[in-house]
Amino acid sequence: GGGSAPPIPPGRALAFAVQGRLHRARAARLSLPHGPVDTPVFMPVGTQGTIKGITSEQMEALDFQIMLGNTYHLGNRPGCEVLKRAGGLHSFMRWPRNLLTDSGGFQMVSLLKLAQITEEGVQFQSPVDSSLMLLTPEKSIEYQNAIGADIMMALDDVVSATLPDRHRVEEATHRTFRWLDRCIKAHARPSEQNLFGIVQGGLHEDLRAVSLKGMIERDLPGYAIGGLSGGEEKDVFWRIVEQCTRPESGLPATKPRYLMGVGYPVDIVVCVALGVDMFDCVYPCRTARFGTAMVTHGLMRLKQREYAGDFRPIDEGCECYTCKNYTRAFLHSIVTKEATACHLVTLHNLHYMKALMTSMRKAILNDTFPDFVRTFLKHHFPATK
Ligand code: GUN
Ligand code: ZN
Repeated sequence: GGGSAPPIPPGRALAFAVQGRLHRARAARLSLPHGPVDTPVFMPVGTQGTIKGITSEQMEALDFQIMLGNTYHLGNRPGCEVLKRAGGLHSFMRWPRNLLTDSGGFQMVSLLKLAQITEEGVQFQSPVDSSLMLLTPEKSIEYQNAIGADIMMALDDVVSATLPDRHRVEEATHRTFRWLDRCIKAHARPSEQNLFGIVQGGLHEDLRAVSLKGMIERDLPGYAIGGLSGGEEKDVFWRIVEQCTRPESGLPATKPRYLMGVGYPVDIVVCVALGVDMFDCVYPCRTARFGTAMVTHGLMRLKQREYAGDFRPIDEGCECYTCKNYTRAFLHSIVTKEATACHLVTLHNLHYMKALMTSMRKAILNDTFPDFVRTFLKHHFPATK
């Protein structure tokens, strides 16, 4: 927090001011229609319009300034009509701060085996009544306009990063431009909602270059790096992110950069160093539901017997509600059996992510980011002293 937010120019829905940098890493302030966002930022993911087990009030208390909603899930239930009648998702879920929605196609392809991609859009069998449904760029934008997300993502053709078929990746790179142009045309509220484009191109440097060039030409308010959350080798993953943030040929330094679906702390720290501003991932919430707490030295599996008589909090230095009120022994005794435990560990993990991003931001602003990275890695990989 702290400091003022850059004013949003008339007719626009975003302002972005870099406040400090160290090599490529930057700390910035993003102004959106529902308030400021300090970057680098981690955005928790709500699927049915909520973070599982956490209320909007608790998200505010944790000081999150932006979270994700999901177009695919919301389009099914409650559906476009209900959202329009509710006046959008912010008021429907009582979340007064910023929302980002993904376009929905990626979730369908990754969740549903039966999804089929054609030039028209992504075709899939409705999980509700098995009827055939088609998500087009126009439909995706209509949903996202109805949701009222502060940042909407263009519908993109995502190919699994590890797919060896270069021809298919090339087709997807170009189709992503055609779908983006249809999204831009369909977008009804460019002065109230931002549309971000998504760089694709798989693990091919030349295709990423083509995608970067086309995205930059379209002069959008911000950009995402897509196609990199699917189990590719780390060195290839980092090389692609590095290419996308390169000073001359990468995404413009004056606009926010969002790496989609990446949320392991180590990956976030490396990618902040490479110049990424925004991240999202289900991981901190999902792993909490399995009884795993995120801590300075990595992970704490609360189910393990060693915690049965351990009356310390998860993390003695943590300021979260869970650590101030509950012991490892208590959490061990109820973890994975009680919704309460899932909820308490989720609160801790979200607090951990927020604190991680805040300390990176401070380190960039104080010129101590290299020290931060060294200390972080030393804690995470104690064997490599
Ligand atoms: N979530 C994680 N990766 C991606 C991607 O490449 N595209 C979209 N739309 N969502 C994602
Ligand atoms: Zn805690």
